[in-house]
Amino acid sequence: MINLDGKRAIVTGAASGIGRATAGVLADLGARVVLADIDQEAGEQAAKETGGTFVRCDVSRSTDCETVVRAATASHGGVDVLFNNAGIIRRSTVLEITEDDWDLVMAVNIKSIMLMSRLVIPLMMEAGGGSIVNTGSGWGIKGGGRAISYCASKGAVVNMTRAMAIDHGPANIRVNCVCPGDTHTGMLADEARQLGESAELFYTEAADRPLGRIGQPRDIAQTVAFLASDASAFVSGAVIAVDGAGTA
Ligand code: NAI
Repeated sequence: MINLDGKRAIVTGAASGIGRATAGVLADLGARVVLADIDQEAGEQAAKETGGTFVRCDVSRSTDCETVVRAATASHGGVDVLFNNAGIIRRSTVLEITEDDWDLVMAVNIKSIMLMSRLVIPLMMEAGGGSIVNTGSGWGIKGGGRAISYCASKGAVVNMTRAMAIDHGPANIRVNCVCPGDTHTGMLADEARQLGESAELFYTEAADRPLGRIGQPRDIAQTVAFLASDASAFVSGAVIAVDGAGTA
């Protein structure tokens, strides 16, 4: 049912975790993928393993985003699928967070979606349509403790998704949001480090979750592949939890 033959995709945050897995799944289903990430070494490795093209990019910088989209157009002639996935977390309350950390989280998690989308949407319009998938979070819907900037940014991702879907639906551009629950990636290890805890906690507690585990990057990747494909032709403005029944 899911076939991405001929689709031209950009995945941000593609060097590791959910983005890396998604680049692999999209490529396996036939897409040509540009992998964008700030981490050059891991990004090049991911591109080698998935058969895609790597472009180094800080998604919070408009000039870097332009470089990615230019490279995608030069290699593939356009863009049909954009997965806005790069993201970071800072574990602090509103009393603890620095202004610099607030600005950084907002720039990487939400401003980046505006920067990438405004470059890609005109290309999708030229091509007669396209699919944009944004990465939100369970915490973008219900909030979470000691992650004030992250929760604010992911809440914005959710509502920006709906607004973009309304604005660009008439151009046959679908915009959806995946909201992962706890997923086994470097981000969890980073969070544990910031909290002075062991990442093992996330994994040992996983048995208490409704499906007996936390998410794997591939769980999210397969949902993104569905949203990228024509199998989801009437799905737009949707906010889809991929969290094994509420692990977020
Ligand atoms: P990850 O840390 O494995 O991957 C994030 C990627 O984004 C990394 O490759 C990193 O180098 C890249 N990145 C960071 N800043 C960047 C920048 N300025 N420009 C370009 N690339 C940048 O983490 P994960 O879990 O794969 O995260 C992917 C998305 O999933 C994020 O948006 C995250 O908020 C979201 N998410 C993750 C959850 C989890 O439990 N792992 C839960 C809910 C949402």
